[in-house]
Amino acid sequence: MSERVAIVTGGASGIGLAIAERLVKDGLTVAVFDPNETSVGAAHYAVDVSNKSQVDDAVATVADTLGPPTVLVNNAGVDGFKPFLQITLDDWNRLLTVNLTGTMLCCQAVIPHMIEAGFGRIVNISSSSAQGGQQMMSHYVSSKAGVIGLTKALALEFGPKGITVNTIPPGFIDTPMLRAAEAKGLLGPGVDAAIATTPVRRAGLPEDIANATSFLVADEASYITGQVIGVNGGRNT
Ligand code: NAI
Repeated sequence: MSERVAIVTGGASGIGLAIAERLVKDGLTVAVFDPNETSVGAAHYAVDVSNKSQVDDAVATVADTLGPPTVLVNNAGVDGFKPFLQITLDDWNRLLTVNLTGTMLCCQAVIPHMIEAGFGRIVNISSSSAQGGQQMMSHYVSSKAGVIGLTKALALEFGPKGITVNTIPPGFIDTPMLRAAEAKGLLGPGVDAAIATTPVRRAGLPEDIANATSFLVADEASYITGQVIGVNGGRNT
């Protein structure tokens, strides 16, 4: 694993930060694509994943300076809370563009390097809300359902090239995104009340997602592809 180069999008905060830290610890060379600076021992690229030229340029730079990327974790995402009838086309497009198109653009830029290497690992961070639905988040839920579908389609198309593509839909992970939603009163009775109805009786930690990602990108996970690997304390099955 030591010579592998991984790109983690949205690696400056929350789940992406924990994933980047874990992959560094696992011995991978990690490049973080995020408009915000990151504190991990990873190379940082100021990239908006919904901007094709920024993505293409940064992937080319990673390949030239760090080596061909053969691990890609599409974690960058934004949330949104509105009743469906109040969602504007701009609201809709913004979430679809970052969460789904951003994932697509990063896959398109990185997969050619994986094909050349005859090896690739893609982990797309979707959301448990796409499994169960979520009120006030129909645009977000739709974008993440798209990520699950994209994962399955790419797994079929690129399995013969040695590339696996899986998705982790996190559920209820204690991150700045979750706490911001709670602070705005968007989580109903809040995090503590949700813990009481979570089978394992705790909120998830970013490290829980990082642990699963670490396994899915390892050599030994080569027979796992096209899968939806829930990490949610039993909140969804
Ligand atoms: P967060 O808000 O703490 O971190 C998101 C990171 O993505 C930030 O560093 C941000 O700068 C970056 N980002 C946002 N837009 C970007 C763009 N256009 N290009 C590049 N980077 C961008 O959020 P959190 O909670 O760590 O979420 C990470 C992923 O997990 C997201 O895709 C989110 O939808 C998903 N998720 C989180 C859940 C939770 O309970 N926290 C539950 C289900 C899914």
